[in-house]
Amino acid sequence: MFDTHAGITAEGGVLIRKYSINLIALGFLLAISLPLRAQKSSGAPLTDTQKDGRRIFQQRCAVCHTLPTVVSKRYGPALYKEIVEDNEDNIRDTILEGREGLMPGFKYSLTRAETDSIIEYLKTVNRPARPKNNPKEGTPASSGE
Ligand code: HEC
Repeated sequence: MFDTHAGITAEGGVLIRKYSINLIALGFLLAISLPLRAQKSSGAPLTDTQKDGRRIFQQRCAVCHTLPTVVSKRYGPALYKEIVEDNEDNIRDTILEGREGLMPGFKYSLTRAETDSIIEYLKTVNRPARPKNNPKEGTPASSGE
């Protein structure tokens, strides 16, 4: 009688532990997916190139270049259309070469077409709001010396 009861309690304990681990995992997934959704694009639907660029940006760049979340600060400056427009060559250079000690270069891991698609995508991104939350906001890294 006591034995059976103990068995049930132990099983219940295991179930509860599994359940809370799932909750933690879910919270983590939400936390890392938020910055992706925070990256809003302006009105018009994206072209295929821009969609490619968005996907690559989310995979390679968003970790440093999207809005801070509860669990992390944004590391690099926000990137949006005003930064990219009429500045494509500098932007491409930065993506390929990186910034010493701050950002890796992607010249061996992105093709020219992929780099261009990221740039095309960034041209559709509106400047993020919420300037007060991050001192880096509104002061994008200088694009030259
Ligand atoms: C490890 C974090 C990290 C990753 C990953 C990263 N960047 Fe950066 N990026 C930075 C930092 C930090 C800076 C600011 C460098 C400085 O202050 O000189 C920066 C600067 C830039 C700039 C220059 C902005 C300006 O105003 O001149 C561009 C453009 C850029 N990154 C694009 C990208 C793209 C595109 C990717 C993905 C292919 C990417 N970055 C991936 C950290 C990162």
